[in-house]
Amino acid sequence: MQGRFATAAATGLATATAAATGLATATGLAADLGTWRADDRPLAQSLAAAVTSAVIDGRITAGTPLPSERELARLLNISRGTVVAALTQLRDDGWLRTRQGSGSVIRLPPSLTQRTTPWSQDRGGAADADLDLTLAVTAAPHDAYLAALTRAVERSPTLLVDAGTPSPGLPRLRELVAGRYTKAGLPTRTEQILITSGAQAALTLLDDHLHQDRRAPVLIESPTFPGALTILRRRRARLVSIPVTTDAGWDLDRLTQAARTSGSRLCYLIPDFHNPTGAHMSRETRTAIGALAQRHGLTIVADETMRDLDLRVPPQATPHLAGPSVINVGSTSKTVWTGLRVGWIRASAALITELRHNPLQQQLAPPPLEQLIAIELLGEHLDALLADRRGRLREQRDHLASLLTPTGWTAAVPDGGLSLWLHLGPDTTGNALAERAAQRGLAVSPGPQFAADRATLTRYLRLPYTATVESLTRAVRILTEPTTPTAPTEPPTDD
Ligand SMILES: Cc1ncc(COP(=O)(O)O)c(C=O)c1O
Repeated sequence: MQGRFATAAATGLATATAAATGLATATGLAADLGTWRADDRPLAQSLAAAVTSAVIDGRITAGTPLPSERELARLLNISRGTVVAALTQLRDDGWLRTRQGSGSVIRLPPSLTQRTTPWSQDRGGAADADLDLTLAVTAAPHDAYLAALTRAVERSPTLLVDAGTPSPGLPRLRELVAGRYTKAGLPTRTEQILITSGAQAALTLLDDHLHQDRRAPVLIESPTFPGALTILRRRRARLVSIPVTTDAGWDLDRLTQAARTSGSRLCYLIPDFHNPTGAHMSRETRTAIGALAQRHGLTIVADETMRDLDLRVPPQATPHLAGPSVINVGSTSKTVWTGLRVGWIRASAALITELRHNPLQQQLAPPPLEQLIAIELLGEHLDALLADRRGRLREQRDHLASLLTPTGWTAAVPDGGLSLWLHLGPDTTGNALAERAAQRGLAVSPGPQFAADRATLTRYLRLPYTATVESLTRAVRILTEPTTPTAPTEPPTDD
């Protein structure tokens, strides 16, 4: 079976199709594996690695039955012993399911489907893989997502009789999102919700619509989410930074002063489990900021993408940052999966109407099928899904914090979010450490990437705890490995 996307392919439907086309699969397999012999490892290992790569990138789908060992050896022009060794490795690693008398079938290993760590962060946990800790993102909740996908497909026929043109969002999804705000204590009508293809799309649209006077600066946090910086920089926004730290939270005095003196009309904040610090805004600060915004004619865009990643036990209800001058932005990216491009804007019904007439809105609306999936995931199943994710993230966060304790670097353990914001002390900089780590196969994000001026926050590093306990252990080992002392070029003298 050729090029299907792995997640969709893992449904029962794909499995049945693959089973029905077993012979075609056998002949296509050799082509699907590509030039796997180029590898300099033993042949059996290379073959096993080629099969896993082909499954991950969707050339071979989960559910595909494998030809017999003899047939495979013939197709690939290798010995049967090599095939047996490769299949044994694949079976041991969970990539094959074998039933007595009915051959072997490709599958995704449960170790991959049951974790929060994206494949590309550690190539599935391979001991020699490079580690990429630059993104604070999770893999999809595999089984829950596939179940939602199946239910969404079952509901999709009614979509097809309509035009499918971009809209403010499917009515049921807008209703569901509005209901979530109302339930959390912020009464919201369906007309106050606009569905977008993620939070960054929402920020792009809001920046375009609200930031008309480009001479007026935008107030942002320092550090802040680099995606927001990219959007603001592209439109050459002048930026004024307000400090935020994990422990002390938002510098209200600086925010008040900036609101009073900078001439700004727009302020971007991440009040819930702020990226990268994990800071969580207190009720008092929320109230104060809501009032401050109104007093100074400042529109606050509150990015609540991280809101559901509350790792406290049990999670505690916090009011939304709210008020007539506050626009709330949300997303399914962190709650569920970044690959599901569904987010939203909550604002006054009048502003939502204006945004609907902005030409960008049509380009930033998600496809209807994605919205159906979001409906399934944000509904009754969400609590169970979140409980599972939070448990894993909590364990990984605590593990990472314990690994860092002996290093002398400090990071307050946040109540939620996806990362630790590590202060490195006077001996090194985030850039130097990131550069050194990169040479040892670990990619990390240094502090300046989170600063508006790219020049401050030099003593910081963001470490996401989305990786597995094993990969986090490897990452900290790499970060703390002593540098090899360079041999002196001249013998030391006595003077
Ligand atoms: C604060 C914040 N907002 C938005 C996003 C991304 O949102 P989306 O994927 O919905 O565009 C991120 C991702 O890291 C984030 O940290």
